[in-house]
Amino acid sequence: MIKVLNNIFVLEGKNIQYAFGPYKGLLRHIYFGNKADEKDFEHFEIRDISSNDSSCDIAWEEYTPWGGLRYKEPAVKVSFGDGTRDLVLEYDGFAIEEDVLRIRLKDKFYPIAIFLNYKIYEEYDIIARWVEIKNLGEEDIFIEKAYSCEVNIDGTGYNITNVLGHWAGEGRRFKQRLDGGKLILESRKGNTGHNNNPYFIIDIDASEDKGEVYFGALEYTGNFKILVEVTPYYYTRLLMGLNDFDFEYRLKASETLILPKAYIGYTDKGYSDMSHRLHRFVRDIILPVDLRNSLRPVLFNSWEATLFNVKCDEQIELARKAKDIGCELFVVDDGWFGERNSDSAGLGDWKVNRDKFPNGLEELIHEVNRLGMDFGLWIEPEMVNPDSELYRQHPDWVYRFNNRELTTSRNQLVLNLSLNEVKEYIFNVLDELLTNYNIKYIKWDMNRPFSEAGALNLDIKEQKMIWLLHSKAVFDLIERLRGKHKGIEIEACASGGGRMDFGVLNYFDEFWTSDNTDALDRLFIQESVSYIYPANTMRCWVTDCPNFINGRTIPLEFRFHVAMMGSLGIGGNINKWTKEEIELAKEKIKQYKEIRHIVQKGDLFRIKSIPKDEIHAIQYVYQGESVVFVFKLYEKFGRKQYKVKLKGLNADKIYEVKYGDKIVRKGGAYLKNVGLELILDGDFSSQLIRLKEI
Ligand code: GLA
Repeated sequence: MIKVLNNIFVLEGKNIQYAFGPYKGLLRHIYFGNKADEKDFEHFEIRDISSNDSSCDIAWEEYTPWGGLRYKEPAVKVSFGDGTRDLVLEYDGFAIEEDVLRIRLKDKFYPIAIFLNYKIYEEYDIIARWVEIKNLGEEDIFIEKAYSCEVNIDGTGYNITNVLGHWAGEGRRFKQRLDGGKLILESRKGNTGHNNNPYFIIDIDASEDKGEVYFGALEYTGNFKILVEVTPYYYTRLLMGLNDFDFEYRLKASETLILPKAYIGYTDKGYSDMSHRLHRFVRDIILPVDLRNSLRPVLFNSWEATLFNVKCDEQIELARKAKDIGCELFVVDDGWFGERNSDSAGLGDWKVNRDKFPNGLEELIHEVNRLGMDFGLWIEPEMVNPDSELYRQHPDWVYRFNNRELTTSRNQLVLNLSLNEVKEYIFNVLDELLTNYNIKYIKWDMNRPFSEAGALNLDIKEQKMIWLLHSKAVFDLIERLRGKHKGIEIEACASGGGRMDFGVLNYFDEFWTSDNTDALDRLFIQESVSYIYPANTMRCWVTDCPNFINGRTIPLEFRFHVAMMGSLGIGGNINKWTKEEIELAKEKIKQYKEIRHIVQKGDLFRIKSIPKDEIHAIQYVYQGESVVFVFKLYEKFGRKQYKVKLKGLNADKIYEVKYGDKIVRKGGAYLKNVGLELILDGDFSSQLIRLKEI
């Protein structure tokens, strides 16, 4: 609900309120937190402390422009044609259109309008914020910095949580206290990358079940920036949006730049409640509509099984096995096209390799479909190997600077998606594949960050726009494809988890969580991802041991249980699995199909977490049903018996509990307060517990 009282705007959710309004020349933030009586909100008077400490730095502003006596990090900074680089924004009214509160700001002199848009999703207590910048004049305006949102929080000494990952080491969480100075989380790589992730969690001493948490995520994939500043004036402020590094947007006459959406939320019930809100929000609001409500299929992916050595006969054999164990979708990964026998050639040549598929891809697809499975294909459309037909024909299709050599990474270059020919080429390639073959699933990869990020087709004044143009082009392509080919499931991949963000989830159905498929590493990567992203968006495979990435050997059941905590896939060479392994796979996939609605649609509770706890336990609860995965890594002599106290159950109901070979009936209150006693026997042991309200 949006309320307007004496020039104070109050956005009201089920539990939260967000208040701000114009006052004495500034658009000032008033409050963000649990509900109060909106009639009580008022502006506090703010005075300069000295000639060095101006009231505009002391005030909490909704969208701080750079100009005047402001030295805090601005939310927006522009320069005008005559060299003026100072923005003086004045409040110019508001409108409420279809649940969106639109605040209009304009410069005192120059023809520029800024719209701050707010929409509250009451059910989720989440606020969407986005900014539009419009050039009302005839001359270009250059936008040097434009964040999507600014958040002001009273006090200092908060903690911020994010990740510090790398390839195959995604999701390494860190928590840092904010006592002074500035902290930046960002990507400069052209994609979101594996290092930091475009979300924030800010709290004082919250735990899973208690405490105040401010949180948010950016609906953008690419160069993002989150800047938190602890001000000398006893408040903490956060900006989130496009990275201003190597950024400048030329806003032409009458043009409007719409910035990516930022979502922010607040809870006083700890991290679990935050995750539940975000997960439900992603599932119900962010994900593409087509498959939003369907359960993700169990897939087989050929990558780890055959690498580039894809051969039709062998793939058919894998498909038969995949069907036998219960897979519903068969995905051929890299290696099916062009001269793609390693990562050094062929990218860009999206024609079926006839040595590998003498009768075309049809032979495999027919067999996959005959078996009753859907077919999926890997593609990396934004890239090209210099050793490819595409590059030989169009060496000018990649990003480049004059007088600089091109830097390859994984032997490939990035295609310049600000070129229409390139976008058309990619669209046609995918359109043809989807038209000519019965393809139901695409894994869209992106295996290197940008370098020499110049677009020689663009004006010299538009060079620093390429980061934004590239990300927009990717989304436009997906949208066009979805418009023409309904119901296609699309997985985002960027060398594993380099494209995990709300932007991607607005266009793709899921992401490849990590190239690291070692079940132990995955336990922590997936737990980290679970703070923000729901389980159905997280692809998780069971692969072979010793694991290709670290040589670790882990029992198959443990590997299954870890992968069953997301959207399950099989990524091992099942042609080589023993009879016992195949039998176990059948049993586990069957079990997954029985519980996947709970995992993919349920509320997730991080019950126990190694290394804080001795064991690891993750619980999912959905409409009277629940499933718990419990893991032990190694056995201390004599220690086999553990107690797990469950969450999210109804204290007044009785549950049927199945685990190991036991079936018992227990009350919700017992399971919550006393807990379930179970045996975990030996190193890398795991258990799956199922509960049903009766
Ligand atoms: C990336 C992906 C992998 C696989 C390979 C293929 O590394 O993350 O899953 O698709 O590319 O080359």
